[in-house]
Amino acid sequence: MAKLVDLTRLGGMVPKTITRAPRPGNHPWRTVETPAGLLNSIGLDNDGIDTFVADHLPYLRTIGCPLIVSVAGTSCEDFTAISEQLNEQEGIAAIELNVSCPNVSGGVDFGSNPEMCHQVVAGVRQATDLPVFAKLTPNVSNIAGVA
Ligand SMILES: Cc1cc2nc3c(=O)[nH]c(=O)nc-3n(C[C@H](O)[C@H](O)[C@H](O)COP(=O)(O)O)c2cc1C
Repeated sequence: MAKLVDLTRLGGMVPKTITRAPRPGNHPWRTVETPAGLLNSIGLDNDGIDTFVADHLPYLRTIGCPLIVSVAGTSCEDFTAISEQLNEQEGIAAIELNVSCPNVSGGVDFGSNPEMCHQVVAGVRQATDLPVFAKLTPNVSNIAGVA
């Protein structure tokens, strides 16, 4: 995108969500054009937090706009462990919690359940001094309750 857009003009950049362990993501097709728009099913393809910090963050922290790191996990501990690791790094403006992942034990998405969403956000709040955003899903009957 740096060849197309002056990145210093952006209010912020949220790179691809990272998880604790690397994930290969879903099998193709991952994006499909429909008459109503684009459907995507990427499956959180990412290199994992260690490679993100070692190989991607050195470049991302130089792009000239605030870097908001998106994290996901299948347990509260995943979210807090990644956030603790990010808290040690320079050049991160904020953490975004991708709470659309299914909780491994509960089965339901963190973002669909107010209590689980609260646990994730509260755990991360303890783990980092950085600003924290929760990226909520609209696929609930009462988003205000989750918020
Ligand atoms: C190819 C592709 C990859 C995406 N990857 C992520 C991701 O890693 N983490 C995330 O929270 N959302 C991801 N999204 C969702 C977008 O952040 C956004 O919520 C979604 O596309 C809806 O917004 P839009 O209508 O403006 O596209 C992805 C979307 C697309 C199309």
